Amino acid sequence: MKDVFDPNLLSELVDQSHNPPGGDPVLGAFYASLVEMVVSGEPIADILMRVKKRRSDITYKHLVNLIYRAFQAIKFRDQDLSYRSLLDIGGWHKELKSLCSNIETKKYFEKLLRTKSTTTTIYQRYTGPYAIVAHFWDSTPVFIADLGCGGNYGLRGIEVGIPFHSVEDQTPGKSVSSLLSKRINLQQCLAVDKENPDHPKVREWRMACSFYPQELNLMDAAFEFESRIRKSTKVKFRKIDLLSSARLPRASFNAVILSMILYQLNLLQQQILIERAKRLLKQGGIIIVQDYAAKNLADPRHLDFNESWFGKNFSFRTFILGKRTGWIFWEVFHWNNGRCQIVRPGEDFARIFKKHQVSSAKAAFAHSTS
Ligand SMILES: C[S@@+](CC[C@H](N)C(=O)[O-])C[C@H]1O[C@@H](n2cnc3c(N)ncnc32)[C@H](O)[C@@H]1O
Repeated sequence: MKDVFDPNLLSELVDQSHNPPGGDPVLGAFYASLVEMVVSGEPIADILMRVKKRRSDITYKHLVNLIYRAFQAIKFRDQDLSYRSLLDIGGWHKELKSLCSNIETKKYFEKLLRTKSTTTTIYQRYTGPYAIVAHFWDSTPVFIADLGCGGNYGLRGIEVGIPFHSVEDQTPGKSVSSLLSKRINLQQCLAVDKENPDHPKVREWRMACSFYPQELNLMDAAFEFESRIRKSTKVKFRKIDLLSSARLPRASFNAVILSMILYQLNLLQQQILIERAKRLLKQGGIIIVQDYAAKNLADPRHLDFNESWFGKNFSFRTFILGKRTGWIFWEVFHWNNGRCQIVRPGEDFARIFKKHQVSSAKAAFAHSTS
């Protein structure tokens, strides 16, 4: 008798079909087609079930996220972008059936799902960490580590001075925009990932991960960006599986960034990684977490990662954690999504920016009375 399709996996697929990443309708059609195919027991359902069994610690969100990336990696390999505006569910059935009917392609697809992690890397995501570092350290020398750096865009881009795109800033006093205009004083930094971002194969996979269909026209700009960040000299990269016992320098960094890595880990792994990140911190340092996550209401020492990524507005968030927060997560910013074009204050924004708000209120008062 055939196994029943995993209901948690199905519910994530349904969520993606209703709320596709980036609101991209092509992705909506891709996932809607997948839902129909798994419900009617097509071979792709068996592939997904096998992957979940053999890679038991993969989170449902991560697996569902990987499916489109693996499909896109195969299309890039075959230099075929004909799917980029495919809105017809029937058309997607054909695409996915043809993927499964070729034994070599099917094996490769399954291997990607079994072995790869999504490595989507977005420079603009580093606006949140940048603003926080600029707020706390201003222009004093600052040492930063980026764990799960993907393409290692963040610290290298900041070091070589690549500007972020402008942000629609809905925070009081437009604090984020004003912090982004400051220059932080980056010292020797560390970027870690389990894959070397500059290896050609890793780069190829990252490209397959980094673009929704409607963003494929941005690929040339990404290549150009990657050639600019090669000039970086202050960011040392180390290829380490952060869940292994590899040693990292202790008490060496003012800020440790965990951007879009925790959602790929189960609860125990998340706790291990946060403990490791803590050991990297200098006195007074902070961990900056960004993810589709929410503070656990019962226990704010933890985050919940079961948020619908695109169902609810502004569920991509920036948190800080450190001695100064009493080791509970403070939610600093809400973003429109992981592309970070619009920012709103998070629940704990005022605790962090109190001083800033007082001084901008004073400035406004002085202005109104002058
Ligand atoms: C979605 S990418 C995020 C890239 C970048 N931080 C950003 O936000 O744009 C997540 C990265 O975490 C890395 N990663 C996941 N688990 C890891 C582990 N156990 N050790 C090291 N890196 C890991 C993956 O290889 C991937 O490059």
